[in-house]
Amino acid sequence: MPTAHPPSDARPDLSVNPIFTRQPMHIPRYRLPDGELDADVAYQIVHDELMLDGNARLNLATFVTTWSEPQARMLMAESLDKNMIDKDEYPRTADLENRCVHMLADLWHAPDPEHTIGCSTTGSSEACMLGGLALKRRWQARRKAAGKPADTPNLVMGANVQVCWEKFCRYWDVEMRLVPVGPDTTGLTPERAVEHCDENTIGVVAVLGSTYDGIYEPVKEIADALDKLEADTGLDVPMHVDGASGGFVAPFIDPDLEWDFRVPRVKSINASGHKYGLVYPGVGWLIFRDASKLPEDLVFSVNYLGGAQPTYTFNFSRGSAMIQAQMYNFLRLGRSGYTAIVANMLANARHLNQSLEASGKFEILNPGLAEPVVTFKLKGDPGFDVYHLSARLRENGWIVPAYSLPPDADDVKLMRIVVLAGGIGGARFLLGVRAHAKTIGAEVTAIVNVGDDVWMHGLRICPDLDSVMYTLSAFRRRVASGGREVEVDLPAGQARWVSAQEHVGENIGGTDSSGLDFALAAFDRHRRDRGGRGRRALVLGAAARPGPARFPPRRLLRAATGCCSGLTG
Ligand SMILES: Cc1ncc(COP(=O)(O)O)c(C=O)c1O
Repeated sequence: MPTAHPPSDARPDLSVNPIFTRQPMHIPRYRLPDGELDADVAYQIVHDELMLDGNARLNLATFVTTWSEPQARMLMAESLDKNMIDKDEYPRTADLENRCVHMLADLWHAPDPEHTIGCSTTGSSEACMLGGLALKRRWQARRKAAGKPADTPNLVMGANVQVCWEKFCRYWDVEMRLVPVGPDTTGLTPERAVEHCDENTIGVVAVLGSTYDGIYEPVKEIADALDKLEADTGLDVPMHVDGASGGFVAPFIDPDLEWDFRVPRVKSINASGHKYGLVYPGVGWLIFRDASKLPEDLVFSVNYLGGAQPTYTFNFSRGSAMIQAQMYNFLRLGRSGYTAIVANMLANARHLNQSLEASGKFEILNPGLAEPVVTFKLKGDPGFDVYHLSARLRENGWIVPAYSLPPDADDVKLMRIVVLAGGIGGARFLLGVRAHAKTIGAEVTAIVNVGDDVWMHGLRICPDLDSVMYTLSAFRRRVASGGREVEVDLPAGQARWVSAQEHVGENIGGTDSSGLDFALAAFDRHRRDRGGRGRRALVLGAAARPGPARFPPRRLLRAATGCCSGLTG
């Protein structure tokens, strides 16, 4: 919402000449022009203006998706004219939204995912506010039923929450109980959460993927502490999990982590489809544990579009393209595709962490990497600060934000790189491997990470040992491996994922080939198990860094260390 003319240009007119070699003309900058413009000229003016924006691929500040497959873009273009609120007119769109809701309810372990309730939103902010509103209404209903006052609600959350929660509290007259963070933690802890609760607490918000540093707050432990509070005092405080980023990360990379509806105290969860859900900006999700957690008086039904349609949103009209794109991703990737992509982003984040540390100039703040968010500060006192470095990087096109941790921990000045897929080549490769293996009657015994994306595109699927050997030796010199072997059962069954990701980067171009040795051993085993008949057995792949990353990490590292040297000099 612009509230003032941007100070960057106080001139009232935009000069169109001489750019378009037309008659000189001026068009007003802040007033609706009196006349019309040629369509091409209007397009060019806006287009050229946008060229001065930052480059999305180098925007390492945002959690939001900056790349999408062409097929998803195609679907979005086809849906641009469909208003998602016109559910009677576009029943299939409404159905797709509904199916996304149930898929997420299932992914997040709702007790009865087929019958639970939820909605799409413009993003996590709207989802958080709608979730907060449901908490407030349920608390008010309980208080009124008990004949108690219901006019001083409060919401308990860490001081590290995203601004949407502060907005929620201010817009809906809820006291914001911000629990201080630091010095030994950057998020909400069970003890501090409980200390801040009382009979007016409408809920506790736990964040899965803190905006500041990507940490997961301990949802289960906070719930356990609230269980104890209830046992001791009778106070029954529900939880909402803000999984804006983690909601699309944890289920794939950390499936045993209990942060979702497996924890009975968690009544609602939000996530941004446009973050690790991998859709362009404009979609979020809110899912309730079960239908009873959404008070009926918050649901509106309108009939003026034909048919009675219940809605729980702040908006009325909204584009539906992002919903189509979300469903596309769900179908396209499935669990294994999302898992491959998240694993890859984490590998990239780990690589960045290690390389930044190794440069000797930076201190890594979050080596654990719950999600692919790299945070670091400057080592020692190099004579400049993170704000200088951020500005210098910006001059070079890189957008890496510098900021401080929340109050009480704000002496820490840090920078953050959100690693996101710039492509899903790796997942595409894995899916392609499977599909191809099926058509040639091969069985996938191992998928080996052997290098970066450049090489991935060169790999072939090998139907027999000879060509496997040929391909292996052809790539032997370029293989990145020798790392810790991590085995993950891919849900589809046969495939095994052998990861050399820990060492990707350093070893590219090296000769170490233990990943390949593993693949060959797997192949031999397979053949042995089949009495030597397993000709069509091994499929090897490369997914260490699938697809173009959002940014070329090595170039970023060079820029970061180069800027440090420039600032020192
Ligand atoms: C933890 C958290 N919650 C909520 C939001 C708001 O999400 P959105 O941008 O989808 O509205 C963000 C955005 O970064 C976030 O990190």
